[in-house]
Amino acid sequence: MNDNLASSAADLLARVDRVAVVTGAGVSAESGVPTFRGQDGLWRRYRAETLATPEAFERDPKLVWEWYDWRRGLIAPVEPNPGHQVLAVWQDLFAGFSLITQNVDGLHAKAGSRDVVELHGNIWKLRCTREGTVSEVRESPLPQLPPVCPSCGAFLRPHVVWFGESLDPAVLERAFRLSESCQAMLVIGTSSVVQPAASLPFAAARAGAKIVEINPEPTPLTPHTDVFLAGRSGEILPALDRLLRETR
Ligand code: OAD
Repeated sequence: MNDNLASSAADLLARVDRVAVVTGAGVSAESGVPTFRGQDGLWRRYRAETLATPEAFERDPKLVWEWYDWRRGLIAPVEPNPGHQVLAVWQDLFAGFSLITQNVDGLHAKAGSRDVVELHGNIWKLRCTREGTVSEVRESPLPQLPPVCPSCGAFLRPHVVWFGESLDPAVLERAFRLSESCQAMLVIGTSSVVQPAASLPFAAARAGAKIVEINPEPTPLTPHTDVFLAGRSGEILPALDRLLRETR
């Protein structure tokens, strides 16, 4: 990490009251959750269209569920890392703080973050394909695949957003509202290629917010940021937290 850039980011954060954060799979990488597009990314090993689309579920719900049940099993024993922990602490450090995530792993909440805006849903939640009711089922592995709705007997599906599906309009509207009303936005551990999440920093910048990005690799967002901190969020966020406390 470049010390001057980290100081610039800390100075920038010390001057603002309202901060919004957008996270992606990279923030959970140091906890051991696989990312999607990296070297060992899930989309390198599996074809999204056979596992994460409504058509795939229509065609073979058991196969889709086996994949999600496997991912639930990977995530179940995993603990939040120092990056998640700093973000949980920061919700009480700033007058206004919001956390918007593309992750479905629930690790921000496990670290203590409240009221996380989950753009792509949550892998621990199941939704009835007939009634639309959502329930939280932590059991892993699930005893029956596909699981069925206890009230109507229809298949339950993972309460996550699949390719070709729209995000929940209320969740998306809230994410844009929070982005457009923050003074600084941190974009952490996302390849910034999946829409509409990738548009949030641009909406924030248009509304006057400063943009800080944390990622070991540059992304399509990087040229548009005010500060780019190259490195891992589990290391950079604790360092930024120390600098911020010295500055504030
Ligand atoms: P990606 O897998 O596309 O990108 C992960 C990003 O994290 C990359 O830019 C990495 O360089 C970065 N990264 C890796 N290790 C890191 C670390 N220790 N600290 C910080 N950054 C690190 O994941 P997302 O951008 O989250 O959607 O993917 C967006 C969406 O695409 C996902 O929510 C998922 C996927 O298809 C759905 O399933 C709907």
